[in-house]
Amino acid sequence: MTTSASIPASARASSIVERFAPTLVAWQRAHGRHALPWQRLDTGRDAYPVWLAEIMLQQTQVAAVIPFYRRFLARFPDVNTLAEASQDEVMACWSGLGYYSRARNLHAAARRVLSEFGGAFPDDPEALESLPGVGRSTAAAVAVFAFGRRAAILDGNVKRVLARVFAIEGVPSSSATTRRMWALAEELLPTHDLDRYTQGLMDLGATVCTPRNPACTSCPFELDCLAHRQGRVAELPHRAPRKRLPERRVAMLLITRGNEVLLERRPPTGIWGGLWSLPESEPFEDLEEFRPRVERFGEVASLQSATGFTHGFTHFVLHADVVHACMREPSHAKRIAASVDTQRWVDSADALELGLPAPVRTLMRARA
Ligand code: ADE
Repeated sequence: MTTSASIPASARASSIVERFAPTLVAWQRAHGRHALPWQRLDTGRDAYPVWLAEIMLQQTQVAAVIPFYRRFLARFPDVNTLAEASQDEVMACWSGLGYYSRARNLHAAARRVLSEFGGAFPDDPEALESLPGVGRSTAAAVAVFAFGRRAAILDGNVKRVLARVFAIEGVPSSSATTRRMWALAEELLPTHDLDRYTQGLMDLGATVCTPRNPACTSCPFELDCLAHRQGRVAELPHRAPRKRLPERRVAMLLITRGNEVLLERRPPTGIWGGLWSLPESEPFEDLEEFRPRVERFGEVASLQSATGFTHGFTHFVLHADVVHACMREPSHAKRIAASVDTQRWVDSADALELGLPAPVRTLMRARA
C-alpha cells in the first residue's frame, strides 16, 4: 500500500524511503543478532517454534524469554504435544513468565491448529491472525520467519524506530498514529530479504534505537534520522500522559496443615487466570474475621499476619496482605478435604511445580 501522506515531505525528499530497507538489511548482516535460539532452528520451516518465540517475546524481553523458551520447547516439542497437554501442564511451564493470557491463548491456538488446519500452521498472515493471541504484527513475524512471506511487523520497538527516523508526531498507541505507522511499515517493505529485514527492525529497536540513551552514533540511519537531525531523539516517539495506576488491596490466606498448603485455582479469565494461588478475600480490619472461614478446615492452631507483597500489573497495583492460618493436623481418618474442586491440599514442595503467580511462588519458596 502506498500512502505518501504517511511520510513527512523532508524524508521523502531525502530518499530515505528507498534506502531504508537495503541499509537495514546490510546493517543486520553486519551488526544484528544471529544466535538467538529461535534463529538457529534445524527444523526447517516449522512454524511452531517460530510462533512460540513470537508469543513469548510479545511482552517479555529476549534475555528473560530464552530459558523459558528452551524449557517449553523441550516439554512441548510440537504443536500436537501442546494441544494434547492439560491446561495445568501448560500453565506450570509458563509460570514465571507473566501475562498468562498468552499461555491460555497459546494452548487454545494449538488446539485450533489441529482442529482447523490439520495440524499445520497456515502460511497466510490473515489466517495466522485468526488464532487466539496472534495479532497483526505477530502474524506477520511468523509468516515472514517461518514461511518467507512478505508482511509488515509493527511492535513497540518498530514504532519507536519509525517515529524517530521519520519524525512521526502523535502518540504511537493512538489509532490515528498507529494507522499511519502501519501504512509506512507496509511502504518500506522490501521485495526480498524479508526475514533479515524484519529481524533488522527488531534488532535495531532492541539494541540501538532504545527508549533511553539510544546509540545514535552506531545507527545506520544516523545521518538520515529526522529526530536525530532535529535534536528530538529524546522527545520522539511522543509519550502518552502518565496516568496514576489504580491500587487494589486483597487478603490472601495461607492455610497450612503440616507440610501441606491449601491452593485454589483462579477463574479462567482475569489476572493470573487458570493459575493456582492462595485463596483470596476482601481486605480485613481484624484477623479474627478469618477464623470462621478457616475453621471449616479443622482446628486452628494459630492465626497470624505474614509478610505480604505488592505486585504491579499493566493496569493496576495489587497489595496483598497475607494471613497465615496454621491448622492442627487431624488424625488420618478425620482429614478434611478441600470443599470444592477448585481447591486442593498440596504438599508445599509439590506446590512449586504448579503454575503459580510469581509473587505467590516467591512467598511459598521463602517458606519451603
Ligand atoms: N521480539 C519479537 N520477536 C523477536 C525476534 N524474533 N527476535 C528478537 N526479538 C524479538
